[in-house]
Amino acid sequence: MRRPSISGALTRQQTLTGNKVRLRPKRLQDAANDYSWRRDAELCSLDATTPISCSFEEFLENYIEELYHPGPSCRFAIETLDGKHIGNCGYFNIDEVKGQAEMGIMVGDKSFWNQGYGADAVLTLIDYMFSQTKLKRIYLKTLNWNIRAQKCFQKCGFAPCGQLTNRDHTFILMEIYSPVHRQGQTR
Ligand SMILES: CC(C)(COP(=O)(O)OP(=O)(O)OC[C@H]1O[C@@H](n2cnc3c(N)ncnc32)[C@H](O)[C@@H]1OP(=O)(O)O)[C@@H](O)C(=O)NCCC(=O)NCCS
Repeated sequence: MRRPSISGALTRQQTLTGNKVRLRPKRLQDAANDYSWRRDAELCSLDATTPISCSFEEFLENYIEELYHPGPSCRFAIETLDGKHIGNCGYFNIDEVKGQAEMGIMVGDKSFWNQGYGADAVLTLIDYMFSQTKLKRIYLKTLNWNIRAQKCFQKCGFAPCGQLTNRDHTFILMEIYSPVHRQGQTR
């Protein structure tokens, strides 16, 4: 069977099941958790962002717009197998010509850190992306001092491939190639 383009897979988003987590399409009921995670100073600093200061009502307005009119990106909620929403992950910056996309993840519920939930979500997502689309390469950025994130991505097969520095932060770039493109990697 021919695999669809990377963004073609966005139109038929499904629920993906890993060993510890389920990745499901985002829904309106996720808004309260997402709002509290976007206001959390520690979570924001790990992601090089600034906590939002808008009201929940304002947040919800944008949330609904993004939910029903998403751009060219694919976002999943991360749930435990018994249905607790613990974070989000997804991919964006899709480049069909180069066959690559950027991925991101956040386990917002801190009581689930360091127990393999993040790695299982990443492995479930990249397995889906490589098996269901024509994607060759997935890359991500993480702050150079975010050791937990780097360890998690290394466990999943990502390797460092560069650094990116702006005025305030230094990021490590990490990448992984699809199993069929791992021999003789070309960019
Ligand atoms: C980054 C994140 C996705 C990782 O998910 P997770 O479920 O906590 O990670 P995992 O348990 O799969 O793996 C983390 C690994 O780092 C290790 N680790 C954690 N802190 C560490 C430290 N200070 N030094 C060395 N190793 C460390 C853990 O022991 C674990 O390795 P192990 O499985 O070999 O024991 C999650 O913690 C998260 O979203 N954090 C908040 C937001 C964030 O960091 N965002 C940036 C993402 S780019």
